[in-house]
Amino acid sequence: MLAKPGHPGSLVALTISFRIRTLFQATNCVVSSEILIEIKDVNFAYGRRPILTGINMIIPRGKVVALMGISGSGKTTLLRLIGGVMKPTSGEIWVDGECTSALDQEGIYRLRRRMGMLFQFGALFTDLSVFDNVAFQMREHVDLPESMIRDLVMMKLHAVGLRGAHKLMPAELSGGMARRVALARAIALDPMIMMYDEPFTGLDPISLGVIANLVRQLNDTLGTTSLVVTHDVQEALDVVDYVYYLSDGKMMAHGTPDEIRANKDPLVHQFVYGEAEGPVEYQYPSGEYAAELKLGKRREASPPGGRHAA
Ligand SMILES: Nc1ncnc2c1ncn2[C@@H]1O[C@H](COP(=O)(O)OP(=O)(O)OP(=O)(O)O)[C@@H](O)[C@H]1O
Ligand SMILES: [Mg+2]
Repeated sequence: MLAKPGHPGSLVALTISFRIRTLFQATNCVVSSEILIEIKDVNFAYGRRPILTGINMIIPRGKVVALMGISGSGKTTLLRLIGGVMKPTSGEIWVDGECTSALDQEGIYRLRRRMGMLFQFGALFTDLSVFDNVAFQMREHVDLPESMIRDLVMMKLHAVGLRGAHKLMPAELSGGMARRVALARAIALDPMIMMYDEPFTGLDPISLGVIANLVRQLNDTLGTTSLVVTHDVQEALDVVDYVYYLSDGKMMAHGTPDEIRANKDPLVHQFVYGEAEGPVEYQYPSGEYAAELKLGKRREASPPGGRHAA
């Protein structure tokens, strides 16, 4: 399904809502109270530069939703808005029944403590062991006896297949193992939502597959909800329930993985199949190239019949 630019935002929101409802009714979920995050007509600008325009999105509880789009399309910005790091210029973001714009700083912190975040390269504390990395948040935020923390840490490490590595230091881990420890740390406090920003970056194909499957497994076994920002289209399409496609700050398409694979829009098609040729340009918007190289001036300055720069 394609949200055409120019549609009134509310109509797009209604369409998305209807599509999600249909999808999850089909899988026997009761939907109306089952929406964890709802983004309504959100606009966001850095200063005077618009970054996100008319964004509507629904993330149902218990589902794994992917947010895709080329570099610079606004994905991380959207995650930051959901996390309350920044507020939308207009529109609303509802998280578990609370409108983030209406919350004060304490309310935002309270909400954020219920979110797990795994950032690109998911950096670990290098001077803490694997065990202490995972225990860190539990010790910071929850008043639990050390014996209980130990059991919880071991459960989280077991969930990512690394219980046996609890004594290792980060420098002793491979990239894929480090990402799994970061994952265990992100789920330490049983978040209501896990937000992943490029969780697969820099991994070899096998580790990538392992992490992709873990995202799905952890979501289902912990009963959480996941939002995965990724460029790794094929792996993501294999494990997620629903996909949103951002382009240049606008929600251009959304649908089930099969619908996205079959999407005929040239932008979506080029992205999904990683084609070099298509409407997506790799140049950051810039002035006229010849003018910036001052070729015109050089030409003027060149003697008649002289050589010009190409
Ligand atoms: N702090 C900032 N101040 C000003 N502009 C910013 C800031 N952070 C990001 N931007 C701009 O906002 C746009 C969207 O950035 P964002 O990081 O959300 O993109 P993205 O889709 O996550 O890209 P990538 O896939 O490369 O991570 C970019 O054009 C970027 O230059
Ligand atoms: Mg990003």
